[in-house]
Amino acid sequence: MGEPVKRIRGVRDILPEETHLWRFMEWIVHAVMSTYGYQEIRTPAFEPTELFVRGVGLETDIVHKEMYTFTDKGGKSLTLKPELTAPVVRAYIQNHLDREAPITRLYYLDELYRQERPQKGRLRQFNQFGVEAIGSPHPEQDVEIIALAYDLCSLFVPQGLTVRLNSIGSPEQRGEYLKQLREVFQPYAADLDQLDRQRLKNNPLRLFDSKNPETQALLEQHAPLISDHISSEDRQHYEEVQAGLKALEVPFEHDPRQVRGLDYYTRTTFEITSGKLGAQDALCGGGRYDNLVQQLGGPDIPAIGFAAGVERLLLVAGESLKEKVTLRKLDVYLAVLAEEARAPALVRAQELRAAGYTVILETLRRSAKAQLREANRSEARAAVIMGEEEVKKGTCTVKRMDNGEQEEVAVDQLATHLDGILHPVPSTDK
Ligand code: HAM
Repeated sequence: MGEPVKRIRGVRDILPEETHLWRFMEWIVHAVMSTYGYQEIRTPAFEPTELFVRGVGLETDIVHKEMYTFTDKGGKSLTLKPELTAPVVRAYIQNHLDREAPITRLYYLDELYRQERPQKGRLRQFNQFGVEAIGSPHPEQDVEIIALAYDLCSLFVPQGLTVRLNSIGSPEQRGEYLKQLREVFQPYAADLDQLDRQRLKNNPLRLFDSKNPETQALLEQHAPLISDHISSEDRQHYEEVQAGLKALEVPFEHDPRQVRGLDYYTRTTFEITSGKLGAQDALCGGGRYDNLVQQLGGPDIPAIGFAAGVERLLLVAGESLKEKVTLRKLDVYLAVLAEEARAPALVRAQELRAAGYTVILETLRRSAKAQLREANRSEARAAVIMGEEEVKKGTCTVKRMDNGEQEEVAVDQLATHLDGILHPVPSTDK
């Protein structure tokens, strides 16, 4: 026999007490996305590793430390998707979506994999919903995306959200900033840990992702701010984004140290945070990525998007969401009291389900008493009882569970009878 097999660290079982909240969230996401004119895309669970190396960047934590990478039988290196922007852009290019329309608005609800150190709100398999708007370089597109992200997150977490906004400018203009950042850090290079030393050498912007408190303290004290080093066009773009958000009354804060942990960002970056999440406080993150489509071999087309973490939103929304979302009650518990009733009961259950009722059928062959106890426990609105007598007569006994009233009904009248007691027509008597 041996010990039972346990799930691995950092993944979850989502049990029935929670799955209805997921369905509710998914339903809202589909509904809101369609009001904004976005269409759903689904991409494969794994992709060539090269997609993420080229798209997200070799020096990022995601690619450097967190990917689930394996070699298939053909010797090809594949990776379970750790994020969705690169796969969506790959699909956009491969399916020539740019030829169909000058702008493509896509959204997704999907499962991702990152080998991070698990903690509250940080899993190794998790879900995101998000969008990618590919085509427009203009600030109103940024405003729409941020407003959509804020709208959706607010539907689940109505209070305590903050939009943190920054502009990291364009890579073509970033040279001078990176030079200054390197100069500031060079005197401390020997004190940095090995990973941060490597970041300083290869891609100093990634120092901002460091989990080392000493590096973070140095950044706090000495690092120049990237938004002070952007071009006048990038600044103008950023100002228009802020003006648009003000017009929509989306509350935001300028967050000069936010650079986001993926290499593809240009100009606007943003995160939505909640004070209730502690260290893992980002519910949502996104930004513009004007060079990624071209970098992945497609045409020179700008884009912007975001992704929100489903588990983190549910963690914060928690109890208040549970109160809002109620499960449909069970209509009928079908109790089977005799051997002769088993086959007819299966038929009755199917007929009632086809008529739209929720029905649970007894399959444990328990005693009459135990079955009625079960009808009570499952909070059924009615018990339909089928015993030897009922089968002989072509009837069923229907018991209302709210007041215990019982009535014998012909089987061909069963659905109509249930309709009368489960969906009562209001009385017209004075
Ligand atoms: P990200 O910031 O890596 O961005 O992830 C977005 C959100 O996914 C986070 O804010 C968080 O809520 C959730 N998340 C990330 N890692 C975990 C984890 N280990 N466990 C649970 N939740 C997690 C992206 O993925 C970009 N692709 C977003 C984007 C779309 N940018 C442009 N378009």
